[in-house]
Amino acid sequence: MSYSSSSKFPLLMPLMVACLIMAASGSNFHNDFDITWGDGRGKIVNNGEVLTLSLDKQSGSGFQSKNEYLFGKIDMQLKLVPGNSAGTVTAYYLSSKGTTWDEIDFEFLGNLSGDPYILHTNAFSQGKGNREQQFYLWFDPTTDLHTYSILWNPERIIFSVDDTPIREFKNMESIGVPFPKNQPMRIYSSLWNADDWATRGGLVKTDWTQAPFTASYRNFNADACVWSNGASSCKSNAPSSSTSTNNAWFSQEMDSAKQQRLQWVQQNYMIYNYCTDAKRFPQGLPSECKMS
Ligand SMILES: *[C@@H]1O[C@H](CO)[C@@H](O)[C@H](O)[C@H]1NC(C)=O
Repeated sequence: MSYSSSSKFPLLMPLMVACLIMAASGSNFHNDFDITWGDGRGKIVNNGEVLTLSLDKQSGSGFQSKNEYLFGKIDMQLKLVPGNSAGTVTAYYLSSKGTTWDEIDFEFLGNLSGDPYILHTNAFSQGKGNREQQFYLWFDPTTDLHTYSILWNPERIIFSVDDTPIREFKNMESIGVPFPKNQPMRIYSSLWNADDWATRGGLVKTDWTQAPFTASYRNFNADACVWSNGASSCKSNAPSSSTSTNNAWFSQEMDSAKQQRLQWVQQNYMIYNYCTDAKRFPQGLPSECKMS
């Protein structure tokens, strides 16, 4: 098998291409991320083990990955703003660039002390989103670190929390729904003030006497295809039937235990699903909703 570095990789998929994994591991935030805004409010500390973002009345802060990825299993541990976090939003997402961008979103909407955060999710393909699903969590996301994961392969996107899938967005190109698979994405995160809409629809405002608000990040891991100079670090090297522990994510799907977990979350913790919001889509629900 030749190892030409041509970028025919996306074209051959998923027939005969399996992935050699370039893992951005080691979890040193200095290696994998840049703080991009916030004038010192974002920090990498403890020799790169921890990243913190903060927000005060003057500004929020944010960071982005050094690498772009085209498919991957990407894990990050987050501990969200504790106490009265009403009005604050912590966004953690993947996004490509341009006017027809792709995007995979986690957004954590803060709340008054003791009231539940909302985990808001969305998936954009070719510039079109409007695929919101929202959840409460089954734990307090401010007292400990929890792992938020995105599995993104050519067939599906699975959002997971501590290894429990909460949402799946399948590749339904066969019925005309665009799927993110050609545009490399970067990882972004930011903490900002969104008290015009975030908490109880904007009713509860940010209490600046509680500032600065701080969220922290640890143990980033990406088993992913890194995209650079128009080529993927994943090369065609094996038929898709071959599996190794390293590249299993590339064809991973949910087993029945995982599907049961997903149902448990959707039945008990889902608070909004665009696919059941008939009022919002008077012309009919989006096609992907009719499939599931
Ligand atoms: C905040 O708490 C209220 C009251 O329990 C709840 O209705 C709301 O969904 C919670 N989350 C947000 C982000 O508003």
